This record gives sequence, structure tokens and C-alpha cells, in this order.
Amino acid sequence: MNTAACQKQNEPAQPGQAVIGLTAADVLETRWRRLAHAGARLPSNYEVIVSPTEQPNILTAGRPDGPLTGCLRVPGDKSISHRALMLGALAVGETRVTGLLEGEDVLATAGAVNAMGAEAARIEDASEPNSWRVVGCGVGGLGAPESALDVGNAGTGARLMMGVVAGHPMTATFTGDASLCRRPMGRVTGPLEMMGARFQGRDGGRLPMTVTGAETPLPIEYELPMASAQVKSAILLAGLTAPGITTVIEPQPTRDHTENMLRHFGAQVETEYLAGGGRRIALTGQPELLARDLTVPADISSAAFPMAAAILVPGSEVVLEGVGLNPLRAGFVTTLRDMGAEVAESGRRTEGGEPVADLTVRASSLKGITVPAERAPSMIDEYPILAVCAALAEGTTRMQGLAELRVKESDRLAAMAAGLAAAGVEVEEGKNELVVRGTGGRAPAGGCRVAVDLDHRIAMAFLVLGLVTEAPVTIDDGAAIDTSFPGFVDLMNGLGANITAAGK
Ligand code: S3P
Repeated sequence: MNTAACQKQNEPAQPGQAVIGLTAADVLETRWRRLAHAGARLPSNYEVIVSPTEQPNILTAGRPDGPLTGCLRVPGDKSISHRALMLGALAVGETRVTGLLEGEDVLATAGAVNAMGAEAARIEDASEPNSWRVVGCGVGGLGAPESALDVGNAGTGARLMMGVVAGHPMTATFTGDASLCRRPMGRVTGPLEMMGARFQGRDGGRLPMTVTGAETPLPIEYELPMASAQVKSAILLAGLTAPGITTVIEPQPTRDHTENMLRHFGAQVETEYLAGGGRRIALTGQPELLARDLTVPADISSAAFPMAAAILVPGSEVVLEGVGLNPLRAGFVTTLRDMGAEVAESGRRTEGGEPVADLTVRASSLKGITVPAERAPSMIDEYPILAVCAALAEGTTRMQGLAELRVKESDRLAAMAAGLAAAGVEVEEGKNELVVRGTGGRAPAGGCRVAVDLDHRIAMAFLVLGLVTEAPVTIDDGAAIDTSFPGFVDLMNGLGANITAAGK
């Protein structure tokens, strides 16, 4: 099957719609209800219905009856969706965004920018899927929210919005779920304090946290102690209102969506490659950002799960449409190919300033490799699912330079090591690395129950593992999947996977 054939058989797939049989409005309403329950501020055009207490969504994955086949478009890129709402809110005029991820993390950002005076709302009768309009207030024009900003599970939402608030003379309090409230914020508050913002948080550096922005932020030059696009972006967003050049030096290149999108909205951002592999990014402050239209590509970090499932389930062939392949995000594709996976690319094109292509992924025998530390920033969110692929490879896979995995939605190094071991896979957890001894295609035992600890990617990784283990794998709560990949279970089952909810 190729993409052309796939498009002939089906209408072009739309996120969350091709297979799942729910309308986008149904999906969105469920999300809004969950957010409202968490106290989030929603766009004014949504009626809020508070849902009863949520029950855990226990999910079990077992071996499917046959290969996985089909064509799908996974939801929009999470990183780009957050940024589109924030920059739309900071621009003058009406920005139209197509293909926005309507996952909980991004909807929380929509709630946050609305609470600060912008107007982000879904366009119900749009011809393009997941279309939103954002009416912005201009650089420096956002106002203080009346109540706390609850950004749920979203590290990107919290850290980037803290940068936005730091650049405005206002006070705002950020809170989130239990996962977000244990994540370190000192990495953003440190540089933002140098710019003139003030922070008061729990245990010194955790949410809930109150941010008082600077009257006029100071432009700084800041060398990041770790490769983090979130920290880089927070500083650049605060630097928008600073009268001068704000410079960030990163030790390794990280995703450059903020820089690309700032340029798209009219800001001047210079990037210089440094000897030793790092980069210097310089933003000229106080630009006038003008509303622009944007298309959000399908998220490679979500596509990674059906890709891995297609590689691992014998006989499978799956086509993923319009996947974002920004070189600073595409390390997973490189790594899969290094391991021997068949991932073919067609229809390379540019959408919304980002490279995208259709990917045809076929079941493949994998071999273990060493994944070098330098590659980590380009696939930082894909290690959980890579570890699942490694479990079925022939030989040992060594994943290096993974210290940052310890401060994601959960400690992903520990979570993968524990879950794989429980499923009968030989695994070693190092301080900064994970070593997985693959079975060479033989099914691991499985038959375990994994606690996902509010981590969407741990949840999806173990559900993919359960498709190829002897006995099924159960996760204790799949609710977090909605933060990044609404419709995941139905999309996967639409390809032929076997994922069931408890009691169904
Ligand atoms: C993101 C950056 C990465 C990534 C996260 C999204 C972003 O985090 O893990 O899911 O959108 O900037 P770090 O900046 O902490 O590496």
C-alpha cells in the first residue's frame, strides 16, 4: 500500500476522526469538561458542564488477530500548537490555526491565553479540521488573569506561559496536576529572575507558583545548563517585551519551533551555529507581531506509537499522513532506520513552515544499537517507545544521555526500566542511560500491570508493548493519554490493534 492508494480508498484522514466515529465536537467537549473540572478557564464560547469525579481508565492491550494495516493522520504537533496559541495571543489581529492539537495540554493553554485577554476559540464550521482563531492583544498587551492558571499536565504550557507572564507587568499564579506540581521550575525561574520577574513557589521551585512579571524586562544573554527547548522558549517569550537583544546559548540544538514561529509572525531572530555543536539564538525585543495563518503538522511524537506498533506486529503496514519531520525532532526516524526498520517517506512538502511527509512503516526485524547522547534532544519524548522497540530487537540497545528523562511527566528512565522488567524484558537502568537486551523478535512474557503515574507517553508505550507480549499488558489509568493524543485507543484499534477498556 502507498499513500496514493490509501487516499484513494479513504477520504484524507483527519485527526481523531477517520476511525473513531466521534465527531470532533464530541471529543472536544469531553476535554473541556475534564479541564473545567480541574478549574481551568475556558474560551467564552464554550458552555461549561462540570463532570462527576473521574474513574481511572484501566486499559489492556493484547495480541491482535492479525497485522495492523491502514492509513491515519495523528493529531497536531503539541509543541507547535502551544506556541501557535501563545504567539497568536501576542500578535495584533486574528491568527487562524489549522490542525491544532485539541488535547488537554493545549486546551489548557487556550484557557490561559483567554484568561489573559486574548480570544482563542474553535471555528466550528471551518472546512479544515481542528481550525482555531486567536485574536491577540499585541506584544506587552496581555492582562492579569482573575484566577489561577491551571495548566494541567503541561510542562510546555507552564514554562512557556511563565515566560510570557514574566515579560508583562502583571501577577499570575500557575498550578497543575500532581505530575506538573512535582516538576522542577527553577530552570525557567532562574533566567526569568535575571530579566526582572519574581517568583514565589512551593518548595522554592515547584508549582503552584506566583509569578510577578517585570515592568520592563532586561534583555539578557543566558547559557542554558541543559538542552531544553522549553527554557529557551520561556526566555525568548519574556524577551519579546525587553528593549534590546535577548540571547540564549544552547549546548545542543533543540527544537526550533519558537524561533521559526517568531520569524513567521514578524520578529527578528538570528541563529548562529557554534563550534562544539551549540547554538546562539538572538531575538530583537519589542517587535510588532502581526497575526498570521498557520498549519500544524501531525505530531511525530504521537506518530511514534503507531509507527512502533506497525514495526513490531508481524505483517503490518501503516501509512501516517503529514507527519512533521523538523530535523530537530526526527531523531526517532533516524534511530528506527539505524535499527533496520522499514520507514519509507513520500510526498515531502512544507506545511506552516515545517517539513512534513507521509510515512509508510512496515513490520521489520530490528537489531540493537547504541543511540548516542547527542541525538537525545531530537527524540527526547520518544525514548519510552524506543525502549519498547528495543525489547524486541536482536541484541542490546544502549540509549545514552537520558538525564532529562528523569524530570518529564514522570521519571521515564525508572518507569521504563520497571515496566519492561515486569514484562520479562532484560533491562538495566543507569544514572543517565537505559540498556535493553532484546529478545530478537520472541514475545516477552507480559502479563503485568503498569502504573503510568500521569504520564501519557508511558501509558501509550506499554499499550504498544502489550500488542506483542505473550500475555496482555494492563495500564492502571489511560486518562493522561488525552493530554497529547486524544483518540489514541480508537485510532490504534482502527488499524487492527487490540486495546480494551476495563468493563467493556
Ligand atoms: C518541548 C520540549 C521538550 C519536550 C516537551 C516539549 C517543547 O522538553 O520534552 O515534550 O515544546 O518545547 P524540554 O525543554 O524539557 O526538553
